[in-house]
Amino acid sequence: MRHWVQDILFSRRGLIVCAAGLVVAKAARASLTPTPDQTAGPYYPHIRPQDIDMDLTRISGTDSQAAGQVIEVSGRVFSVKGHALSGAVVEIWQADTNGRYIDIKDKSVSAPRDQRFQGYGAVRAGADGAYRFRTIRPASYDTGFSKRTPHIHFRVKHQKLGELVTQMYFPGEAMNKQDAVYLALSGNLARDAATARLRPGNGPPRYTFDLVLD
Ligand SMILES: [Fe+2]
Repeated sequence: MRHWVQDILFSRRGLIVCAAGLVVAKAARASLTPTPDQTAGPYYPHIRPQDIDMDLTRISGTDSQAAGQVIEVSGRVFSVKGHALSGAVVEIWQADTNGRYIDIKDKSVSAPRDQRFQGYGAVRAGADGAYRFRTIRPASYDTGFSKRTPHIHFRVKHQKLGELVTQMYFPGEAMNKQDAVYLALSGNLARDAATARLRPGNGPPRYTFDLVLD
């Protein structure tokens, strides 16, 4: 969770350029590491499923639960100055346990799509910037060019700070180091900011993933 172990750095806004061209620190204003932008990929569902609530493991009106390991993903949405972004809209979309997306462009025939999996969800962050989803750990999948490590796509929209599109990775996942999109993240700070933290405890694995908009 970024707001308790956040790396401290000076933001670009924390620097001023004086008339002589020297860059000096204006003030020791701490800021959070922005969550890095990542591609939305080809499978953002422009045609939304009917059910878009925070529980992707069940589709409203049905009794069955999606296949796969149930997990919880939650966190808070912040500005780089550490202000909670109340009201931000947080969307996620991801592959099911067979590596399939709900989007109609996913025409993979390697595995059937799990019809019980919602595949997409959208919530509005609370007054403290908090959001939460219940979902399943996505499977890896083959793009035809490379194999993707398990990941969850995020899009966050805030009235004043605009939009962030990114991907969340799982800590300790060996495939991360072979994933071209993960490896495109520049440096450990960015990779850390794009990786969830596993919280200790019993029950379904609970991951924390904070989102910081620049
Ligand atoms: Fe993806």
